[in-house]
Amino acid sequence: MERWDIDRYRRPALVPCEVASGGDDVLTIGVGDDAVDLSFEGVARDEVADVVAQLMRPSSEIWTKLNRRACPAWVRALTVQLDALSLIEETDSGIDSVTSGAERAIAMCAEVGQHLAAVVERRLAMYKDTLAVVHEMLADDDNERDARSGVFPFSRKSAGPFADNFALQALHFQLAYARRNAPELLIAWQRVLAEVFRHACWFPAHATARSHGKKDAALESFRSVASLDPIDLEMYLLSFAHFVELAPLRVGRRMTSVDTARFDDACSGLTLAARAERLLIKALDQLGSNAYASAALACSEITPLVKGLYVEQYHVTDRFVEILGQLLSKRVQRNLRARLFQYFQEEYGHEAFELATCVALGMNETDVRASVPLPLTALYIDAYTVLAHRMPTAFFASIMVTEGLRDQHSPVHAHIAALVENALHAGDIAAKHGETNDELNHPSLSRLFLADVPHVTAVEQRYSLEAALFMLEVNMRQLESVAYFYGGQTQLQFHGLHEGRRSLEV
Ligand SMILES: [Fe+2]
Repeated sequence: MERWDIDRYRRPALVPCEVASGGDDVLTIGVGDDAVDLSFEGVARDEVADVVAQLMRPSSEIWTKLNRRACPAWVRALTVQLDALSLIEETDSGIDSVTSGAERAIAMCAEVGQHLAAVVERRLAMYKDTLAVVHEMLADDDNERDARSGVFPFSRKSAGPFADNFALQALHFQLAYARRNAPELLIAWQRVLAEVFRHACWFPAHATARSHGKKDAALESFRSVASLDPIDLEMYLLSFAHFVELAPLRVGRRMTSVDTARFDDACSGLTLAARAERLLIKALDQLGSNAYASAALACSEITPLVKGLYVEQYHVTDRFVEILGQLLSKRVQRNLRARLFQYFQEEYGHEAFELATCVALGMNETDVRASVPLPLTALYIDAYTVLAHRMPTAFFASIMVTEGLRDQHSPVHAHIAALVENALHAGDIAAKHGETNDELNHPSLSRLFLADVPHVTAVEQRYSLEAALFMLEVNMRQLESVAYFYGGQTQLQFHGLHEGRRSLEV
């Protein structure tokens, strides 16, 4: 980390204080217990007193000169000393930039809300139930209820027409993620919904009264939204709209399902691992090929699809270690704790490999960093993060999806890696990550972790199996969305809302 520097203030000023002479080469600033004696050599006392007076005014030219290194060395030494005594304050409250940030956030919510409203208005009757349930989800802050009861969200008949709805499950995990990690997003999402209701001239039963807020109150509550990174805000607005749009459609329903009711006994961690492996292998067989696999195998050169895969992979890797952070602070057995820390270490910084591959494939590093991840890419990390915090066994069983299932070889993965290697000799970077994963035995991680979990309750077992299957579907849909978004491009375009970028759906 770099050292703190006086030049980092935007509008600094010396805390107003009294200045008194304490002899020829001493100047006392402040009174009583707070008094500080400034001693100096080779500068006249009056000159120092004059500079001290100027430093108390944030608008004084002396600060500009200091910043431009146009002041005598003793003035800089003096301000550094005053700063070390905590006597320099930042007088720019930041409210102007917060206000403009809040206004930008409101405008972004309105834009996404209008796009979503255009979709909803065409089939309002079909969207009413979805909008009502999403509105309810945003108001309900007990998102751990499902985990406590062991019922996976939107999976049972009790969820009525929404049972096995993938899009609502996705929203459930993103809402749970936001509540813990970015509660400001709830305000933003409520704003998007309010915009949709207003455009469609329809409100769910309980929504009417609340949506008529005053404009000032909206700006006030949006000041916190402005603290979010604008790219994150854009990502979460787009993914929210995407999953709301998907919810009542056929494509919004789960493609994989499992009846876990028969697992009504406690089991060992390793038994859970074996059951999860069998369940996932069977589901993979049933799913068969997907749009991504066929599109990827058809590529014989570096197309936007191949590039897009690495862009999204970069975004996943960039956030991957966040999910482990949830587990590192938990009090678990020493062996398990040591393994979790080792896992963190083995994954940390891997986004550099993905970014280097993107650059080697001709992309601009800044553009890649500023691109907005696809909704499914965001969901992939959000859901893992929630699972890691909510139920470690569910997380341990689910990571076999990302770390490799029973050391299975992926022909699609091998085809893409070979393409990149042939085309660019950048393959050594790209292949490195894949090799590292195998060298580090990451496909064994699920079993190693679960071997250290001696007892899994029936509730945990059912939830963990459902979670593993859900993550398999998230993984597959993520790849399909890469194929859908990048596959049709002739020249690479990044995902996002502005500046000519394409957006996945709305
Ligand atoms: Fe890994």
